[in-house]
Amino acid sequence: MATYRVQEIEDGFYILRVNDRYTNYFEALWEIPEGITYNAYLLKTSEGAVLFDGWKKVYSSQLIDALETVIGPEELRYVVVNHLEPDHSGSLEDVLRWAPNAKVLGSRLAARLIKAFPRARERFQAVGDGEALELGGERIRFIYTPWLHWPETMVSWVETRRILVTCDAFGGYGIPFGLFDDECIRWEDALRAMQKYVVTVIGHYRGWIVKALDKLHKAGIKPRIIAPAHGLMWRKDPGYVMRFYERLARGTPVKGKALVVYGSMYGTVENMVRRLVCAMAREGYSPVVYGFTDSKRPQLSEILTDAIDSEVILIAAPTYEADLFPLIRLVAEEICWKASDGKKAVIVSSYGWGSMAARRLREILEGCNFSVVESIEYNSVGPAGLHLAEVEELAKKVVEALKKGGEA
Ligand code: FEO
Repeated sequence: MATYRVQEIEDGFYILRVNDRYTNYFEALWEIPEGITYNAYLLKTSEGAVLFDGWKKVYSSQLIDALETVIGPEELRYVVVNHLEPDHSGSLEDVLRWAPNAKVLGSRLAARLIKAFPRARERFQAVGDGEALELGGERIRFIYTPWLHWPETMVSWVETRRILVTCDAFGGYGIPFGLFDDECIRWEDALRAMQKYVVTVIGHYRGWIVKALDKLHKAGIKPRIIAPAHGLMWRKDPGYVMRFYERLARGTPVKGKALVVYGSMYGTVENMVRRLVCAMAREGYSPVVYGFTDSKRPQLSEILTDAIDSEVILIAAPTYEADLFPLIRLVAEEICWKASDGKKAVIVSSYGWGSMAARRLREILEGCNFSVVESIEYNSVGPAGLHLAEVEELAKKVVEALKKGGEA
């Protein structure tokens, strides 16, 4: 049984948060040993209550228990569905069964998906982009933010309180002890949790994040609190969080940060990469290294989190079955899918009988707008590998190529 929290964070505005420690692979893809929360929000007014989003289906009955600690079923007037992915909409039908008067508000595109929800489709009312709901002295404006994370997504701006309810946007992984970003957590850890969520879940649609942030900016929206559907609420410095989010969306690199990912079956590639990492560090780069070997397997979700703001990406792999080592192929394709943006790349590959890995890596990386500044291939399967002098020579070559492609 998951634990949940209901807390009135200010007069009449509540967070309802369930802590999911059982999902190890979010969307059946992303490794999250740290867990995840689903946050719904409740605004209680003199004319009834508004619920923003919900929880995963498996936690439906707990969500109703949580609601009952604050309101009776007759009091719930509206359920706002900012986004219909099942981690937020799984509880919708059960909530509507419990609350006989509640209408469902969502974007016009949400109308298409809501057909799959028998109760919700009967009570659905589309709201236009920029339309506002007035209730009991509160004013809530709905702003379409397509592709954050699905086409139907919108955010709810509780104008009267300057609270922005954002569903996936600004969400983070983990089950923090506190509810806000200024409680019991290092600021950098809170931002890292958000970075990991945005890259893995919304990374492919980052151009839309930039558009959405511009739209909010032009609408003069300056939230006092950002209230996402995963992780912490942001109140310490929401303006900074929005700027940080935009930098991630634009793929703005941290100066000198270098992501190094390699696959190494018998240590040949790993030995080479170690030398290259030392050479890069000497030149002022800050390498973040992930290696797939016969004793370790890093998490793709963490690799992508570091890919998004790296200035340089070095990928190393052996040729395997006359093709690219498969785990590195997956990594390279996912980096392309979520975090390319014209970054510099270095390719390193080893082979025994025939060379293919470097060619395949180049195809993948150049196919998504990476600038491959150097590609090293070497023939070695023996225990000695290359002579130290040869490796140092290659390391120098890589560093020179990186310098030509732009200073660290
Ligand atoms: Fe948290 Fe797109 O769902």
